[in-house]
Amino acid sequence: MVTDADAGQFAVPYLGIGTVIDDRELAAVREVLSSGLPLSQGVWRERFEERFAEHIGVRHAVSVTSGTVALELVIRLLDLGPGDEVITTPQTYQATIQPLLDTGAVVRFADVRADTANIDPDRVAALITPRTKAIMLVHYGGLPADMDAIMRMADEHGIVVVEDAAHALGARYHGRPAGGLGHIGCFSFHSSKNISTLGEGGMITLDRDDWARRLRLVRGNQADLLLTAAGTAFGDSTSPPPGALFPGDAYTHECFGVRRAGTNATLSEAAAAVGLVQLDKLPGLTARRRAVAARLTAELAEFEEVRVQPVPAGVAHAYHLFTCYVDPARIDRDELVRCLAAEGVQTFLRYFPLHLLPEWRARGHRLGECPVAERQWFAEHLNLPCHPGLSDEQVELLTTALGCALRKVIRR
Ligand SMILES: Cc1ncc(COP(=O)(O)O)c(C=O)c1O
Repeated sequence: MVTDADAGQFAVPYLGIGTVIDDRELAAVREVLSSGLPLSQGVWRERFEERFAEHIGVRHAVSVTSGTVALELVIRLLDLGPGDEVITTPQTYQATIQPLLDTGAVVRFADVRADTANIDPDRVAALITPRTKAIMLVHYGGLPADMDAIMRMADEHGIVVVEDAAHALGARYHGRPAGGLGHIGCFSFHSSKNISTLGEGGMITLDRDDWARRLRLVRGNQADLLLTAAGTAFGDSTSPPPGALFPGDAYTHECFGVRRAGTNATLSEAAAAVGLVQLDKLPGLTARRRAVAARLTAELAEFEEVRVQPVPAGVAHAYHLFTCYVDPARIDRDELVRCLAAEGVQTFLRYFPLHLLPEWRARGHRLGECPVAERQWFAEHLNLPCHPGLSDEQVELLTTALGCALRKVIRR
């Protein structure tokens, strides 16, 4: 299988630098560096979080250093442990559920829909028990999952829904942005994603004030309860506990609160400043992704042996990935991948079904548990290059190569 490192040898690379950097990002970094202001925990992070929350339509956006860290902090926030169950999709990047490995919670994989590759609400319904605490889903490739059905079930059973929206910045579901549809959203600003904060970064979006407060404390390695110089406390309680050991004007670092394990996952000021610029560019970047996807869809319409991920009415796809499925009776998918590579087109298959990874098999998961995801991965599924870094010439080359490769491999 080809890797990122091989991209240079392809006329049409799969990812390139997915986010198109120009003078505006360079100016933003220059402004931060020449401002004389601290390079951490300052105004740019504050502005980026405010703008992001506004964009998603939630009360809080908490920036962190990656999408993986966003998911890790959220899983920690939910206090999952032995006896708890989490329902998730097998068709996502491993980071969506990786931190659950250490919690002792039981993970149940709900198979995906054959058309969209998003988690199937009927499969979710069949897996809900009184122990189900959370549903962790992904908007696969940037196509929102069936959130109305999922949220109805979640509300009925008191289950928290976490959206892994790493692919879905720019996607909308009946007028609302992905990442603001469930209880918590997690975004990635890795260099391959729909916007980037200097290569790495992430964001957690949510409405609940108490959760946002806790996430901010943990993200900044702060104590649960801090006393201010004036002796007033903020934290879980609003005044120092009885019998406080220190007067308010002493150094009072976390003497009273229950301390939780924290970490430092602070997004730097330069990264946040670039995030602000990229957020401004998002409509243009998304439009370009959609235009490339439209060209690919038009090219594939000629071939009844290939179907593309459909976009239901009322839904706007963010096209982090362009996904199609071949008819395995007519096309050997692996031969198509090799043929495209020979034509200069780099492709990827995203993702290997999670329940078949060794860490999940070691916990009792097995082949046959999610037949749709398995069938797609092993014989049908293909992701084609679709990003704003592609020039018009590259898009032309891509569609021509796709047509040529398909004509070669289809069994008549
Ligand atoms: C679906 C999904 N979730 C989470 C992540 C993790 O994001 P990051 O690379 O920022 O840690 C990724 C990144 O590839 C992803 O694709």
